[in-house]
Amino acid sequence: MHPDVKEILLTTDQIAARVREMAAQIAADYRGREPVLVGVLDGAVVFLSDLMRALPIPVRVDFVKWSSYGDGTTSSGEVQLLKDLSFSVEGRDVLVVEDIVDTGLTLRYLMENLETRQVASLAVAALLDKPSRRKAPVELAYVGFQVPDEFVVGYGLDYAQRYRNLPYVAVLKPEIYRSP
Ligand code: IMP
Repeated sequence: MHPDVKEILLTTDQIAARVREMAAQIAADYRGREPVLVGVLDGAVVFLSDLMRALPIPVRVDFVKWSSYGDGTTSSGEVQLLKDLSFSVEGRDVLVVEDIVDTGLTLRYLMENLETRQVASLAVAALLDKPSRRKAPVELAYVGFQVPDEFVVGYGLDYAQRYRNLPYVAVLKPEIYRSP
């Protein structure tokens, strides 16, 4: 275990098993279609890369990147689009792939933005859901796990750009969050 980690919330095996279940559900729901998986950079890259390889249906993949968090652990609520989609999603089934939905503010901006693009359908797959902190109601079609109101890292999630490469989801020791 990484020395900065206080507790592992979700092990590598637990995540892998759940991602396979989510992929089976998504494949059944999108059978006969070719959805566009829209990964939300940077945090969703690990989840997206595992999810897409577990999907036995054809998919397209694109990315968006929003700014909102800075280096802290709470949302500023201010969101800017730093990277837009690379191709048109008009008439396509869009499945947004998110690492974690916390206040829901980032996702609400993204959904409102995508809804203006004449998509055939729009849904969200989130690996983690922190429902206790929701400020903007968002509908999540697929959720991997609910997590408590703690700042988590690993499996793509960062704290101040670190720990994304941990192969599990964990909570850091309190002194790590306090240090500048
Ligand atoms: P929201 O707008 O508050 O829902 O925040 C969404 C984004 O904040 C996520 O896509 C993450 O990038 C980041 N985030 C929220 N909670 C956590 C956490 O516990 N650990 C790491 N990143 C988080």
